[in-house]
Amino acid sequence: MQQETVTIILPTYEEVDSLPSLIDAIAEVKKQTLANLQLIIVDDDSDDGTESLISEKNLEWVRLIVRRGEKGLSTAVIRGLEEAESEYCIVMDADGSHPASAIPNMISALIEGADFTVGSRYVQGGTTEDGWGVLRWLNSKIATLMARPFTTVNDSMSGFLGMKRETFLAAKDLDPVGYKIGLELIVKCGCKNVVEVPIHFRTRQLGESKLTLKVQWEYLQHVIRLLRYTHPNFVSFFTFAAVGVSGLGVYILALMLTPLITAIWIAMTWNFFWDRKYAFWDARSKSIFVQYIGFILVCSVGAIANYFITTWFVNNSHGIPLAGLVGGLSASVIGVVFNYVFNKALIFRK
Ligand code: GDD
Ligand code: MN
Repeated sequence: MQQETVTIILPTYEEVDSLPSLIDAIAEVKKQTLANLQLIIVDDDSDDGTESLISEKNLEWVRLIVRRGEKGLSTAVIRGLEEAESEYCIVMDADGSHPASAIPNMISALIEGADFTVGSRYVQGGTTEDGWGVLRWLNSKIATLMARPFTTVNDSMSGFLGMKRETFLAAKDLDPVGYKIGLELIVKCGCKNVVEVPIHFRTRQLGESKLTLKVQWEYLQHVIRLLRYTHPNFVSFFTFAAVGVSGLGVYILALMLTPLITAIWIAMTWNFFWDRKYAFWDARSKSIFVQYIGFILVCSVGAIANYFITTWFVNNSHGIPLAGLVGGLSASVIGVVFNYVFNKALIFRK
């Protein structure tokens, strides 16, 4: 593999202590297998001596980009990928968790036709160093499970990534938030054939992890964004139905305090705001006022239809006790579908 051109991208924030041994390990890979290897470090103004370390090393194949006034792992990774000029790109953590020795295997996987490759803890031969508390382990498992709708990759949370540069350039609608840039790239580049290369994941030796509670909150938002991207109609309808259930609760509560017509209006208004925000998140072509009036009209038609269907069932139940209930329930389901379809088509058009 001496002729392949490869760029290694290292996002760093306060990793000056870990960098020297990692650069040595990458230099070894360059010497042994990948002569045309370049390193791009994207540092977010750590101010911990990273800059002087790199300038003292003075290696022609190592380039340091310092971003000032901008922070974030995913955007740092994207920046590195944009600066790369090689055929292949590898992204890895700078804290020593990811073994540089796995790089040639990852490049081989790409040469053999993989769309994307990850250094994986969860395939045969992959391991995680002991000392992961139950909490971090559980955390990682839950996060991986949440990525299931998007990919079958076992270690979809990995930050050790490889792809052809042209794959990255083909990415549509990249929306890097939080930590899971690998998942984002796999989804947005439409990667089908992801090959997992087993690695031994080492616990960071020096410095501290930057994975905070905020990062986990960002991951939750990321999953929702990805779901909206890959399954927009499912998310939209499911949210609409859930808001509908909450609206029923609001309606029952309001009925105890106000007359029927006011209770209906309160519940519809409640539904409107949540539906507009979460079920029809990208439909902003009409003013909120027009949408509100339209929503009330559509829902009123739905409510009247609901009333008549339920009454019809009760009147035609021929004494079968459950018929009224069944009728009411099916009328509600029809009502939700009716309200959804008409609101989407007429009121919340993109
Ligand atoms: N430029 C930049 N900006 N780099 C950052 C930032 C940032 O805001 N935050 C973190 N980094 C760098 C770190 O310096 C390190 O090189 C790498 O990103 C990973 O950060 P860690 O703080 O070591 O993260 P972690 O070990 O908790 O998480 C890693 O493992 C997870 C799987 O367990 C990452 O690889 C995650 O992506 C991965 O999901
Ligand atoms: Mn780490």
